[in-house]
Amino acid sequence: MDFLKTRYTPMNRRRRIYEGKAKVLYEGPEPGTLIQHFKDDATAFNAKKHEVIDGKGVLNNRISEYIFQNLNDIGVPTHFIRRLNMREQLIREVEIIPLEVVVRNVAAGSLAKRLGLEEGTQLPRSIIEFYYKNDALDDPMVSEEHITAFGWANPQEIDDIMALAIRVNDFLSGLFLGAGIRLIDFKMETGRIWEGDMMRIVVADEISPDSCRLWDVKSADKLDKDRFRRDMGGLVEAYQEVARRLGILGESENALAGGPRLVQP
Ligand code: TMP
Repeated sequence: MDFLKTRYTPMNRRRRIYEGKAKVLYEGPEPGTLIQHFKDDATAFNAKKHEVIDGKGVLNNRISEYIFQNLNDIGVPTHFIRRLNMREQLIREVEIIPLEVVVRNVAAGSLAKRLGLEEGTQLPRSIIEFYYKNDALDDPMVSEEHITAFGWANPQEIDDIMALAIRVNDFLSGLFLGAGIRLIDFKMETGRIWEGDMMRIVVADEISPDSCRLWDVKSADKLDKDRFRRDMGGLVEAYQEVARRLGILGESENALAGGPRLVQP
């Protein structure tokens, strides 16, 4: 009977295309689409550290949806189509370019360590870095020379990726500053989409407190995954604060209501 038909194949019958550390990709309802599912798993140091943090996936789904929808709205192309439910979004299938594109505004993390800079030092200008996505090699940093020599992207594509990275950085910096948050750095991924004979590069994957460094403007409190990497605790509370400040969660709304319950330690 018609009214019994579900719109989408139930998740356990959908074909699993790829499972990553924090997300799973399933076959989408139409050709050229996928479903991106956010798990509660948190990993760091190439998964040498791993924990399941109740509610993280739900929050990242909402925060990443908000950012990607805004990017679409200002004309920055992304893979995002729409959010489906608490943990899933419908996305366009792309050919992922195997690079992690990191944009830094303030010294922190591996840059601070590598160059002996104090964390929190404003950089003379925004710096874009590339890392080769390869778990077995721990995502090594690479230069444009490596990228073109090994054919991961051509010079025109690198230009397009850098232009996208700058637009995303400018947009995110303003968005977060308006919420009292300093965007220290972030990681983004890109992919190729074909429209007839035309290929274009779009922003893919996720942008969330898992992949950004976000500090409170006044107190410099960390509102990102460094809370997990550095064993500081309070990760879900921090992500919830980011969502609340962006206006994704109303004062009384709880992103986790009806989903996994936040278990206080
Ligand atoms: P890094 O300082 O450790 O190189 O990280 C730079 C930014 O990239 C930071 O915002 C965290 C993010 N990031 C990821 O999203 N995934 C990763 O695997 C790593 C190493 C960093």
